[in-house]
Parts: sequence; C-alpha cells; structure tokens
Amino acid sequence: MFTRHLIDLDTVSIDQLNDVLDLAKVIMKHPQYFCDSGHGKIMATLFYEPSTRTQMSFQSAMLKLGGKIVGFDNPNSSSVSKGESLRDTVRVVSNYADLIVIRHPCEGAAQAAAMFSRCNVINAGDGGHLHPTQTLTDLFTLINTKGTLSNLTVGICGDLKNGRTVHSLIKSLVGFKNNKFVFISTPQLAIPDYIKKIVIDAGCKYSESASLSDSISKIDVLYMTRIQRERFENDEEYKNQKGVFILDKEKMKNAKYGLKILHPLPRIDEIDYEVDDDSRAVYFDQTEYGMYVRMALILYMLENSEKKLDARPESNSEKCCCNPRCITNHELYLPKLYKKAEGREICEYCDHSQPICSK
Ligand code: CP
Repeated sequence: MFTRHLIDLDTVSIDQLNDVLDLAKVIMKHPQYFCDSGHGKIMATLFYEPSTRTQMSFQSAMLKLGGKIVGFDNPNSSSVSKGESLRDTVRVVSNYADLIVIRHPCEGAAQAAAMFSRCNVINAGDGGHLHPTQTLTDLFTLINTKGTLSNLTVGICGDLKNGRTVHSLIKSLVGFKNNKFVFISTPQLAIPDYIKKIVIDAGCKYSESASLSDSISKIDVLYMTRIQRERFENDEEYKNQKGVFILDKEKMKNAKYGLKILHPLPRIDEIDYEVDDDSRAVYFDQTEYGMYVRMALILYMLENSEKKLDARPESNSEKCCCNPRCITNHELYLPKLYKKAEGREICEYCDHSQPICSK
C-alpha cells in the first residue's frame, strides 16, 4: 500500500518511489491512456504561500487525468482571512475533496493538516522544511537526463539552510547506491546538521565548499538554488548573501560534458540567462517532468483514498518547539510531539532538534 499522506518521502520505500517514477514514464509516453483516470475525483489545492510551478503542475496534472480542482492560491480570499484555523479549514475541505495538496509558510504544516483531514494530504512545501513532490520531479528529471539515480556526484549550491527542495532531495538520494555530495554555500547558509547526519548515517560521502568555480569540474549534477529572501529575518542579511554564487558561461567551461544543471526555480540571479542555451541546462525540462510525476502521484494517492479521520496522537511533552517557524508555535491547539535521540528531542512536525532540558 502507498502512503496515506505524502508529508515526507521518508514514508515511501525505494520500491514505491520507483513505482511512481515508472508510472510517470508510462504517462509521459502515453498520456492519452490516462485522460479519464481521475474522472469524478476532486483535488483541492490550498496554497497559503505563493507558487507557480507546484500549484499549476498539480492542477494541470489533475485536469489531464480528467479530474476536477478546487482551492485557493491566496488565503486572504478564503475564510483564513477571518481567522479560521488550519484544522477547521482542512477538516471542511476534506469533506469536499478526495485529495488535498497544501503549501504553507510554517514548517510541519502539512503534517498538522493531515491530522485533521478525512482525505489524503500531499505536502507541496512547508516553510524551509520539505518539498517532497519537488524531489519526485528532481528524481524523474535525473532518470530522464542522466539515466540513473546512483553513482552520482551531486553538487548543491546556494541557500542550503532554507532550501526545502535541497533537504528533501538529499534525503532521497542517500537511498540510492554510491552517491556523493558537494555542498556549496556560504557558512551562514550551510546545510543543517540534521541533514549532514542523515548523509553520514546512510554511509554517503560529502564535502563542503565555498567556491562554485573550484567545485564545478568534479560534479555530475549541479543543483542550483536561489537565496530564499522570504526566510531571512531582515533584508540586510539577505543582501549579504545574494549574488555570491552565480553560474555563468565562464564557469561552464570547466564543467563535465555530461553535467546536468537542475534548479527547482524560480530563478533570481544565480544562473545567468546565457546558460539557458547550454544543452546541459535541464531546468525548464524539469518543470514538465514535474507535471508527469505529479500525475503518477495523484493516481497512487487516489488509489488508496479512504475518507476517514485518523486517531490523533496525544502530546508527549509540555514544551514548545524552539523553532519559531514551526506550525506548533502558530496553531497552538496542536499536540506537542517529540522523538528522543542522543539526549535531544526532535520535533515531529519540523524536525528541529533541541536539548531535552530546554524550556
Ligand atoms: N519549485 C517550486 O516549488 O516552484 P514554485 O514555488 O513556483 O511552486
């Protein structure tokens, strides 16, 4: 059985992941066979944060499957603007829809939404935490352009601290054989320790670099990301980070012939427009692959759709999560849930780790 909710790809086995990717390949080759597969089904897209690709590729995917869509792309046009809680919005929408796709600025919001939904929930990005369907898109792009998900040296460049697509991608790629990582960032935007631990625990090698020019000749895949302005405390800090890593034609001279450049987009200034014409740049193809993989995912999720509310867990702690962007600090009725590991407790919503003795 496929996962009931897709919050984190952690809950999807490699076999299930391969099933989705294989189905996406068939759909891409023969879309006409699937044009009625979602007939009679409704997908709700609840976007509390802006989006172009994720929202429109999900909506296009459902329409191409013959299903229907409802939802909002601006919470101010819904009763959220009147103060309706996440739990009530989700509970109501799940009475109308067979599937909910949610994007939210708070980390752990999709996990919280799943607790109050009668239908399956897909995480379309929760703050700086995770973006599992972008990862499916990235994996499908690699399969179609590199022909493999193994034995790759993957350079990841830019905002590795706040880039949720980066976190989800690394967590998936460590599950395939013999992948290595080069993390290219400033110290301020370095990859979080909990992600490094995942890489180490999986037995994968990684190195850290402050120079894209020095790293580019060694890598098979370059995953560029933008600096996430909306996650900074103030504009001064953002301006200090902006423009540090820019991929241009000059740097491309040292890249491997078989390099593939991916970017979840939107792009700001981190890839010069002149690189778009290089055959190694696959970031616009990536957006189309994203639609096919989301068609496959929707079909898998609908196959297991059973309208029911799951039993909600009770709080296992009195403490608040120290991450101010955690959904539990915004929707205060949520049960406080932590896993304990190595003298620390890890928030089950946002994965933030804090000492057990904290407030
Ligand atoms: N890659 C991505 O998530 O893009 P959007 O923010 O436009 O959905």
